[in-house]
Amino acid sequence: MTEASPSRGRFITLEGPEGSGKTTAARHLADWLRGRRLRVVLTQEPGGTPLGEKIRRIVLHVRGMSDDLDPRADALLYAAGRAQHVARVIRPALDRGDWVVCARYTDSSLAYQGAGYGNDLSELRRLQDFATAGLSPDLTLLLDVPVEIGLERTRRRTEWNRFEDTEGVAFFEQVRAAYLRLAAEEPDRFRVVDGSGSVSDADAAIRAIVTSLI
Ligand code: TYD
Repeated sequence: MTEASPSRGRFITLEGPEGSGKTTAARHLADWLRGRRLRVVLTQEPGGTPLGEKIRRIVLHVRGMSDDLDPRADALLYAAGRAQHVARVIRPALDRGDWVVCARYTDSSLAYQGAGYGNDLSELRRLQDFATAGLSPDLTLLLDVPVEIGLERTRRRTEWNRFEDTEGVAFFEQVRAAYLRLAAEEPDRFRVVDGSGSVSDADAAIRAIVTSLI
């Protein structure tokens, strides 16, 4: 985590396994930063642009296609959405001096397409570098939650997604372990936040961490 000059926008990503509370935490963080008179772009992956939203449907919600993606095709689809997102949304916002809060980014691909689906990690890292033109977050908040708790939370979801019929607890254990390894490898960029408690506990922990960036 590098020290900020007050005028420069910062790029914060939230990561974590299914049901770790990233989406809510990202929204609350963005609101809190706005309350401190910062301009904030709140966004997410897969998504964040019209192309990204189309790719999101393809990789997650089309029965017979989303659940039958070749691992390389899968990685490339996420990367294509990410490239567009960085070029059209994230980089321009940072150039304007805005803050960017993004739920999921490159670490999701390393955890899911890498540890989960078996793509080679160093190849995947090169792909992320290409897609993002080297744009790395200033801070990554890893919301860590035991798999069973996370999956229980996601049972409230209504729309079908690719994981429902195909992936079980073992897959998500691999994803979680991969995230924790990534965090240990880059302690300057990552902070691990306990996502198993209440929403307000996570919010408080995140605010304490982000305060040092402002
Ligand atoms: P999302 O709606 O963000 O759900 P949540 O964050 O609540 O789990 O779902 C995104 C899904 O896409 C999630 O299951 C992880 C997956 N994903 C990848 O496999 N690779 C990626 O690079 C990204 C951004 C997401």
